[in-house]
Amino acid sequence: MNINYSEKIPNNVDLSSDRRLQRALEQWQPKFLEWWDELGPDKSSELDVYLRTAISVEKEGWAHFDYVKMPEYRWGIFLTPSDPNRTIDFGIHKGQPAWQEVPGEYRSELRRLIVTQGDTEPASVEQQRYLGKTCPSLYDLRNLFQVNVEEGRHLWAMVYLLQAYFGRDGREEAEAMLERHSGDQDKPRILDAFNEETPDWLSFFMFTFFTDRDGKFQLASLAESAFDPLSRSCRFMLTEEAHHMFVGESGVGRIVQRTCDLMNQHKTDDVREQGGIDLPTLQKYLNFHFSVSADLFGQEISTNAATYYNTSLKGRMAEAKIDDNHLLHDTSYPVLELSGDKIIKTDCPALNAVNERLRDDYIEDCDLGVRRWNKIIENSGHDFRFKLPHRAFNRNIGHFSTIHADPEGNIITQDEWDRKHLEWLPSQEDRTFVQSLMQPVTEPGEIAGWIAPPKGKINRQSFEFEFVCFN
Ligand SMILES: [Fe+2]
Ligand SMILES: [Fe+2]
Repeated sequence: MNINYSEKIPNNVDLSSDRRLQRALEQWQPKFLEWWDELGPDKSSELDVYLRTAISVEKEGWAHFDYVKMPEYRWGIFLTPSDPNRTIDFGIHKGQPAWQEVPGEYRSELRRLIVTQGDTEPASVEQQRYLGKTCPSLYDLRNLFQVNVEEGRHLWAMVYLLQAYFGRDGREEAEAMLERHSGDQDKPRILDAFNEETPDWLSFFMFTFFTDRDGKFQLASLAESAFDPLSRSCRFMLTEEAHHMFVGESGVGRIVQRTCDLMNQHKTDDVREQGGIDLPTLQKYLNFHFSVSADLFGQEISTNAATYYNTSLKGRMAEAKIDDNHLLHDTSYPVLELSGDKIIKTDCPALNAVNERLRDDYIEDCDLGVRRWNKIIENSGHDFRFKLPHRAFNRNIGHFSTIHADPEGNIITQDEWDRKHLEWLPSQEDRTFVQSLMQPVTEPGEIAGWIAPPKGKINRQSFEFEFVCFN
């Protein structure tokens, strides 16, 4: 199932057979490019970037690498191949054939799910737009741009669904995707984490580890949707998302490595003077990005989530692998709740707790990455260990948004929080210090002093390769 690159909009959905849709998308395309020019990576349009482009959606060999100027990147519409026999795995429509059209009764719910997902994609491009100025190496700069163009493509994926299946409302939503902006006072992005700044590369790596991982879990549960075009879009997006999380995990891992090397070399834990980022500061950034990303899963007990699940619109992670009846009508799920000044576990109706279940899966996945970072510290001979904060820590959504908790999950008073929170979250001083390290390194093979070079290669190109040409 190759992608047709001879068309203005590359696609594998036979776009030319639907002239109306093709025209609608061709009208949206220049607006997208205008947005990219205005709010995409700053001053990047003339750079030649060694980028990966999808050429096929099949498992093998979907990627092609070459120098591309980003505005000329072939953003397009790629869905994983359809399975004509696919049936629905969960909810009241379980066992029925997957839907090729949007059922009228679920139109507004599906639109809302697609718009919420779609809105995050351009948001992260906006959040990351100034990072190119302070890249630690050409290798990292290239990875940043790869993430950016793929988030742009994810926006295309969602806009295609809106334009193809939601008529006029869909067209209006597609326009609105380019009108809301990250951090904009009047027209902010829908979800809070996507209105935060990503002012430095440590934040970028933490963001791609924690916040893109939320994306992975959201996409995985939308990939279960009975609405087949949504499912197939998300399945292909997941293959791209994996790279974003790799960038995050390896990026933080390389900072940890460099910090440990400096600690050993200079026989000190405080490596700031040596131009490294000390481990306690890394833990603070971890606390911040984890807690903000945990909010993205929404309320622990949610009637919306129950409706989405019950009506087969949004499933759990990997439905087919879960051994139950996939209806959740008479089952319960343990959820942490507040009871006076204690946090207790209560059994709640499983249908209402699907958000919390997804958050549990997410936390478990985050923890695996944290363990791999700890391995680096251990191998370097140090006792420090990173730890994910308790889910009650620093939350703005859900049960724990009304209280303060320390990273261990003990409920504390406002007073204690005011006194102590800067031991747990980056202070202005920490941020200023981290930002002071962000000096651009743009010679091939060179790297900033606060991060170790990567071990792996990109398409067999070693670290010395000129991943971005400034001409
Ligand atoms: Fe994305
Ligand atoms: Fe992503």
